[in-house]
Amino acid sequence: MIYIKNEEQIELMRKSALLVSHTLAEVAKILKPGMTTLYVDNVIDGFIKDHQGIPSFKGYGPVTNPYPFASCISVNDVVVHGFPNKKELKEGDIISIDIGIILNKWHGDHAYTFAIGEPSKEVQQLIKITKESLYKGIEKALENNRIGDIAYAIQEHTEKKHGYGVVRELVGHGLGKNLHEDPQVPNYGKRGSGTKLKTGMVLAIEPMINLGTKDVFTEMDGWTVKTKDGKVSVHFEHDVCVKKGKADVLSDYSIIEEAEINNPELFFCN
Ligand code: MF3
Ligand code: CO
Repeated sequence: MIYIKNEEQIELMRKSALLVSHTLAEVAKILKPGMTTLYVDNVIDGFIKDHQGIPSFKGYGPVTNPYPFASCISVNDVVVHGFPNKKELKEGDIISIDIGIILNKWHGDHAYTFAIGEPSKEVQQLIKITKESLYKGIEKALENNRIGDIAYAIQEHTEKKHGYGVVRELVGHGLGKNLHEDPQVPNYGKRGSGTKLKTGMVLAIEPMINLGTKDVFTEMDGWTVKTKDGKVSVHFEHDVCVKKGKADVLSDYSIIEEAEINNPELFFCN
């Protein structure tokens, strides 16, 4: 069942999404080689709570194996759902940080991939193209288009045009009072297929794009998803409200990018 949000609800969701953006911008100010991802997660957890939010990932999932941290921090060949840990970041690492927050009962959920130091040209290009593909998907999040139009746009730009691997096992999703709502938003598919989009649908669009093949596996912890070939993977995610004419992006990369550009330890791939 798809829940359509009214304008008042959209404004509340914008606040939730923007708190995620501000949290990611805080992280972008401090990321540097030698820092552990566990430390980063602690900063994230503290920032969310200081701003009256609840970290929605913590405790999410099966009761037998709930997700244990405030953020997913996925380094290099980790695609998504990486556990923050005590390993130090080093020059050339790429790091996807995915954060979910409940604020005033509404969810925000988005992600950004940073490069510590200077990654290879090949990896710089992967980051740039994956971010571009997210915006190409967002351009299709219009009333009376279909989910397949978003999916096709992302797959076209990444897989068909650049030969990257588009992860099939994980997809974007509706977002609202729940972290995961209908409809699913795959990053691959046919134009004109799937659910018809309506004004007021809020979608978390999140391309997960591998430098090598599309194949992934989940580690023994039940969460960490990695590429099978050990090559790097990039993940960007925005919260988007479907509209007529132009989609409304509720989250905001500009504040994250500003912090990224001003942090000499990070490499801005645009
Ligand atoms: N952005 C991811 C998603 O929407 C993050 C979920 S992590 C989890 O699926 F821990 F909450 F599962
Ligand atoms: Co998501």
